Amino acid sequence: MSVPTDQQHMEKIVNLCKRRGFIFQASEIYGGLNGAWDYGPLGVELKRNLKNYWWRVTVHEREDVVGMDGAILTHPDVLKASGHVEGFSDPMIDCRSCKAHLRLDQLIDKKGVKQCPNCGSKDLTEARQFNLMFETHVGAAADESSIAYLRPETAQSIFVQFKNILEVSRKKLPFGIAQIGKAFRNEINPRNFTFRSREFEQMELEYFCRPEQGMELLEYWKEERLKFYDDIGISRSKLHVRNVPDEERAFYSKGTYDIEYDFPFGRQELEGVAYRTDYDLSQHQKASGKSLEYFDDETKQRFIPHVVEPSAGVDRTILALICDAYGEDQAPDDKGKMETRVVLRFHPRLAPIKCGIFPLLKNNAQLVAKAKEVVALLRPHMHVFYDESGAIGRRYRRQDEIGTPFGITVDFETLGEKDPTLRDTVTLRDRDSMKQRRIAIGALVSTLRAEII
Ligand code: GAP
Repeated sequence: MSVPTDQQHMEKIVNLCKRRGFIFQASEIYGGLNGAWDYGPLGVELKRNLKNYWWRVTVHEREDVVGMDGAILTHPDVLKASGHVEGFSDPMIDCRSCKAHLRLDQLIDKKGVKQCPNCGSKDLTEARQFNLMFETHVGAAADESSIAYLRPETAQSIFVQFKNILEVSRKKLPFGIAQIGKAFRNEINPRNFTFRSREFEQMELEYFCRPEQGMELLEYWKEERLKFYDDIGISRSKLHVRNVPDEERAFYSKGTYDIEYDFPFGRQELEGVAYRTDYDLSQHQKASGKSLEYFDDETKQRFIPHVVEPSAGVDRTILALICDAYGEDQAPDDKGKMETRVVLRFHPRLAPIKCGIFPLLKNNAQLVAKAKEVVALLRPHMHVFYDESGAIGRRYRRQDEIGTPFGITVDFETLGEKDPTLRDTVTLRDRDSMKQRRIAIGALVSTLRAEII
């Protein structure tokens, strides 16, 4: 399978995402809103499949994790206690020539001289801190007393609700609280398609433990998270674990791994797995005056739990899934001539549409009726797509391009016209091998469900 050069690769992916309805620029007809994206009919399915699978393995398949869904609007005291109001900022520099606002790490360094990456100018301002949080006002009065923030991470609402959730769930350490939801950061320079956005989603787990378990659980969660990426079909060879050195880690973290992916625009962070010690709960206990301690029944000790946090970006994982799945190969068209086939090789459990269903000819009432019967049979079990227009090869190509793993064709054999033993069988085509096999309609649900679960 050939893969185009990196920049071409990225352009093709962005075009495909728009052309087939995965991802659009937000507010596009008004010129677009920088750093915000809308997911179209296929993008939203892919995103749901990803989030559902994360939730399934992180919450439903475990005894020791419960979920929550916190508010986006956040009390300023929460984010003062967490350190975000004071310190959640990036160093920003302006280019006096082209007026671009730039993050310090985006400048080009030519023999020790910093230059603007847009226009090459060396006429740059000094760096100043730019807070990344979106501030808003709650209620009618827009003054100091009504300030609230859009949360910059989902994690803080988990820490703030720790005591309530501990009480209602009656969990014992170690246990986790999971959340999927929106987060907002006023990034200085959003870029690389959805990679760095101003509005994005996170899948975060705060896994609370005894202090002596922290380092071991950091290793455990790093491995669990690598397994997750494997289970959703991301190539292991493109994933890398970076042990974040002391000088780059938050001062309260005793260990952090970045899980990075080789995107077409470079190796970049997909997820952070951090041992945050007892920093967050201690800060909130101090600032709120409410006890966030855990009482150990066995040792009769009270203490503030430590926490290990795997924090993944939904949008970055979606982008990695699409980049990883994209391929081009040579395949015969309806007349047997070789042509380039674009294919998204999504894992069947992630694919937006699981199965395309096609009557061989659209002007044959019996074929159409039978194909619609197959649609009705499968629809309660999975997301399927019925298509009767164009040559059958074209219909396969359209599904290959959006990553549909299976195609079912209802043909004259299905009607039992040539061979009565083949009545009520269909051809089942595999997207990746393009091989076709005959299968009884009655066996379709169980066969396909085993693949997509
Ligand atoms: N609670 C910890 C936390 O928020 P982070 O490394 O700042 O840590 C975690 O963010 C993950 O959220 C990142 O690994 C990334 O996948 C995603 N993320 C962060 N900023 C993002 C942005 N501007 N656009 C898209 N995803 C982002």
